Amino acid sequence: MGEGRDVGCINGWDRHRIIQITYVLEGERQSLPVRFISTGFFGVGKNERLASLLYLMKTFKIAVLPGDGIGPEVMTEARRVLGAVESRFSMSFELNEARVGGVAIDHDGEALPAKTLEICGDAEAILFGSVGGPKWETLPPNEQPERAALLPLRKHFGLFANLRPAVCFPNLTHASPVKESIIAGGFNVLCVRELTGGLYFGQPKGISEVDGEPVAIDTMVYKKSEIVRIAHVAFKAAMTRDRRLTSIDKANVLENGVLWRKTVTEVGKEYPEVALNHLYVDNAAMQLIRNPRGFDVVLAENLFGDILSDEMAMITGSLGMLPSASLGLKETALGRFGLFEPSGGTAPDIAGKGIANPIAQILSVGMMLRYSLGEPLAAEAIEVAVRRVIDSGLRTGDIFSEGTERVGTEAMGRAIAAAI
Ligand code: IPM
Ligand code: MG
Repeated sequence: MGEGRDVGCINGWDRHRIIQITYVLEGERQSLPVRFISTGFFGVGKNERLASLLYLMKTFKIAVLPGDGIGPEVMTEARRVLGAVESRFSMSFELNEARVGGVAIDHDGEALPAKTLEICGDAEAILFGSVGGPKWETLPPNEQPERAALLPLRKHFGLFANLRPAVCFPNLTHASPVKESIIAGGFNVLCVRELTGGLYFGQPKGISEVDGEPVAIDTMVYKKSEIVRIAHVAFKAAMTRDRRLTSIDKANVLENGVLWRKTVTEVGKEYPEVALNHLYVDNAAMQLIRNPRGFDVVLAENLFGDILSDEMAMITGSLGMLPSASLGLKETALGRFGLFEPSGGTAPDIAGKGIANPIAQILSVGMMLRYSLGEPLAAEAIEVAVRRVIDSGLRTGDIFSEGTERVGTEAMGRAIAAAI
């Protein structure tokens, strides 16, 4: 900030006790969101003028929910990386940890305790590990960690926009089950999945007795407004990428598909630079394997997005590398409130062994910085650090190949933190 006279003006705004400070540095007007800590006075210049000094530091409140399986061990590495970001970018994180999933069932009797929800509501973002495991698979489906924690969290915070980047690094194509000739050079597809509508939440829903036998009903419902808002997210994402959007539906069978296609086409008129095409979901499942590089952004409703994003993740070959963001309507001081989690699950078979790949969790921190905290530079620093560490030859077991160095969860986390 330099001397007192360099401080152009200070605009106070009270939201979340964060103030926006505007100042002039080397002739350039700068703007910075900061959390106010305290003031003091000091003398500047020959004439001993008094200038006020603000002690300020950007501070973000994060709810940290490690969950089950490998969740806690990869979360430890994510926290290590947050520590590195704190020192490199002069910001601070207030990390409030809470129980979720199986561990919460064991301690609190439910997968999403009220206390956890409260901590999440009080934060600017949720950093989520993973939930579930064999121990809780015998519970009634509605009480199991995945259904009883993740779905209510999505609904409670209106997290309608699920961004699932499927990135295959050029030097990791060997890990993919798809022929290397098809994916040489890697690929980068972004799945934008609608997350709070469709068959997951539509009513009526349930199993009842009809004519002497159980009948199951799930209802697929989409309001036009729900399609419009997710379509905007997808088109906006496409504008920052290769400007190609593939919208997925089943318009040859489902009424939902007809409305989906019509609505996405309409929204597309607002984005003339984006090349839009439509695929039926069954065809899309084939094309994604035949030529993943033919896709840039894929937009899908809830269930189709669930299925296709797993397919894309598998094609990248390294589920342990893929982060995700679930964004809602609620705005934070500098972005949108969201939940950030690895795309992979709890991997109970390797949990507690210190060998899980922490990269998906670490890249989820990057997405959090970008989308909820308005810190794209810090997000980029994390992505670059991950790429550098991969380029240096360090590999966890899931992405290991001959001639590279096999390391555990902690060594991978430390290397990435050091590269920031
Ligand atoms: C996902 C998962 C969840 C979903 C399950 C665990 C409820 O598969 O996030 O993709 O179906 O959305
Ligand atoms: Mg899924």
